[in-house]
Amino acid sequence: MRYSLKTGDISKLSVDCLAVMVFSRGTLSEEAGALDTATGKALSGLINSGDFSGKLCETQFLYGPAGVAAKRILLVGGGQRSKFNADNSIKALNAALKAITSSKTGSAHFGFSDIEVSDRDANWLAARLAQQAEDVSYRYDETKSKKSPAVALKTVSMSPPSGAMRKSLDEALKAGAAVGRGMNKAKYLGDLPGNVCTPTFLAKQGNELAAKNASVTTKVLTEKQMERLGMGSLLSVAAGSDEEAKLIIMEYKGAAASSRPYCLVGKGITFDTGGISLKPGLQMDEMKYDMCGAASVFGVMQAVAELKLPINVVAVVAAAENMPSSGATKPGDIVTSMSGKTIEILNTDAEGRLVLCDALTYAERFKPRSTIDIATLTGAAVATFGTVVSALLGNNERLAKTLLECGEHSCDPAWQLPLREEYQKQIDSNFADMANIGGPRAGAITAACFLSRFAEKQKWAHLDIAGSAWNQGPNKGATGRPVALLVEYLSRQKA
Ligand code: BES
Ligand code: MN
Ligand code: ZN
Repeated sequence: MRYSLKTGDISKLSVDCLAVMVFSRGTLSEEAGALDTATGKALSGLINSGDFSGKLCETQFLYGPAGVAAKRILLVGGGQRSKFNADNSIKALNAALKAITSSKTGSAHFGFSDIEVSDRDANWLAARLAQQAEDVSYRYDETKSKKSPAVALKTVSMSPPSGAMRKSLDEALKAGAAVGRGMNKAKYLGDLPGNVCTPTFLAKQGNELAAKNASVTTKVLTEKQMERLGMGSLLSVAAGSDEEAKLIIMEYKGAAASSRPYCLVGKGITFDTGGISLKPGLQMDEMKYDMCGAASVFGVMQAVAELKLPINVVAVVAAAENMPSSGATKPGDIVTSMSGKTIEILNTDAEGRLVLCDALTYAERFKPRSTIDIATLTGAAVATFGTVVSALLGNNERLAKTLLECGEHSCDPAWQLPLREEYQKQIDSNFADMANIGGPRAGAITAACFLSRFAEKQKWAHLDIAGSAWNQGPNKGATGRPVALLVEYLSRQKA
């Protein structure tokens, strides 16, 4: 999809669709007013008939409007104008883009010249338009014999909100599009079934990213190489699977080689059966999403490369499949991690932390400025937060605060849980340096306690996205979160 700014009389724009905002009780935005005049009151006529009132998310096409070069007009309800904030603008954009992408519209123009989002600036609105245009255009059909009809929409333009700088709006459109495409990458990888999206498949994705971007280099470690590094914890998860585990390291260089990188670590369990501590059958299919942390890391790396951010970023993806078999790790088994710390595996279903701990130790060699791991780590995070926010924990308050802010700004929110010392004793073990589970209470926190023991030398934060990474029900599918939060964070960093 291509994005641009267009100024001037929108009644003369020959696009397939002109989208204009109408607020509560038929209050026309500036450009809706201009179209009303150009069409000889077609818009106010519709409103006076009572068929359109401007309530939030209402949409209505007008076809072949006289006096206007465009093929159609789309009226988009914005609700109460004084309440047009970030959340409502997201809903309105979503409704508009759903209407547009389910029509044959190839080119759409958004009349935003006097549109103000009460709690954000014009750049945010431009970025959001592009992000959502990509997001709404996502179709999963990789494993269907009948492909979904391609979305017709190819070009999206907008009138610059008055007073905004053209150059920064142009950049915002590009940034938003990169975030949307990164989210789509994450959704695609998440939605693929476990028999397609294996650790080897993820490794291939890493190599493809490097092939497409000169700024990215990818290295993939085999099980043999991980053995030599002493990654006994990560390898214990893959022990029961025929699929070979992979450690995928992607390095993005946007700054001098000497500039310390920002590090992302992704949980890439391509299917989580629970292992010998086998999960119940109900909804076990959803454990194909147990690599959504890794998927978000791929999405972020793609966006970072597309945006040519002036920093260095290293991504480490720990990819493995968690299966039961004769060779599988058993409850009570003790393994030695790359750090040298020993772990008593009391439950083989607490496998995410076992792969992440070795990836975190591996990340130390890059001397990162910050390290953020992203993982569908605990059912406890789902129980606490549902799908609304990602759980955030970490050992550095400034980093945590920044990430919370980035989550709010990008409307990809996180909420912090306490990583207090008092919880650490829950993972004490009589037979090893620690156990891999901390009992039924405070599960999202004790999981982070476990990880914290491998991140002591780093400024570290942990995002538990077990709830936010995918939706259940009839609209089952990956969400592409928290790509927006992470791209916002990296965009704010300096080399
Ligand atoms: N991948 C799961 C966490 C999960 C569960 C994510 C449900 C999304 C929905 C993880 O590997 C896991 O099984 N965690 C266990 C840990 C427990 C054994 C301490 C859990 O949360 O039940
Ligand atoms: Mn598990
Ligand atoms: Zn898991």
